[in-house]
Amino acid sequence: MERQLVQDYLEAHKFVLEESMQALGRERLFYVPVHLGYVRISTLELIAEEIRKNNVEGSVAELGVYRGDFAKYINEAFPEKTLYLFDTFSGFSEKDVLVEKAHDYSPGTQDFSDTNVALVLDKMSKPDNCIIKKGYFPDSLEGLEDDFAFVSLDADLYQPIFEGLKYFYPRLSKGGFILIHDYNNDEYKGVKKAVTDYCHNEGIPFVPICDPWGSAVIAK
Ligand SMILES: C[S@@+](CC[C@H](N)C(=O)[O-])C[C@H]1O[C@@H](n2cnc3c(N)ncnc32)[C@H](O)[C@@H]1O
Repeated sequence: MERQLVQDYLEAHKFVLEESMQALGRERLFYVPVHLGYVRISTLELIAEEIRKNNVEGSVAELGVYRGDFAKYINEAFPEKTLYLFDTFSGFSEKDVLVEKAHDYSPGTQDFSDTNVALVLDKMSKPDNCIIKKGYFPDSLEGLEDDFAFVSLDADLYQPIFEGLKYFYPRLSKGGFILIHDYNNDEYKGVKKAVTDYCHNEGIPFVPICDPWGSAVIAK
């Protein structure tokens, strides 16, 4: 009985969610990769629509690309913009993991090394728009001169998330957005700490959203 109720709820919910995106002139199927989630992908698409409508200038970027699963949606959502992809492509850095352990943010043991640049580029609908920034962030920023309309921060750990906010927020165009994944993920407590440290200090408001593991959205 209970299972039937859940099934009925999901079916009704699926219909409402699909309809709500169609009402906005967008196609979005309820069923998307579970680790990304309907809310996260649809939020990205709605943000992209605002950025397009308001002619917000600048490139787009993701810090923490892994196998490119979310980057693929960023590339699709901004077909006319350059997409910078920042990752070590070999997993967490020991330097950042030491900070995690010292503050008990996370064990930092998750392995993100089973990826490579070719695998990521192969998923992109517009690979020519992509600029790979391979290496330790923020060192991988060297020589970069650009402004940004949208940035996804998905690096899990305190140090890269804090450095990402410090670098990208001042370079975010007016009307631009930063989406920070794992804001409400208790297994990576450093993300919330980095967001609150940076945003409270700079007086920047943000909105937590209810995608899997919880993201925070900053608008400028
Ligand atoms: C959760 S994964 C990213 C998931 C990805 N956005 C997706 O859609 O599946 C986190 C990534 O952050 C990267 N990362 C963490 N700290 C980093 C740093 N300091 N510099 C560069 N990359 C980093 C890791 O290598 C890993 O690939």
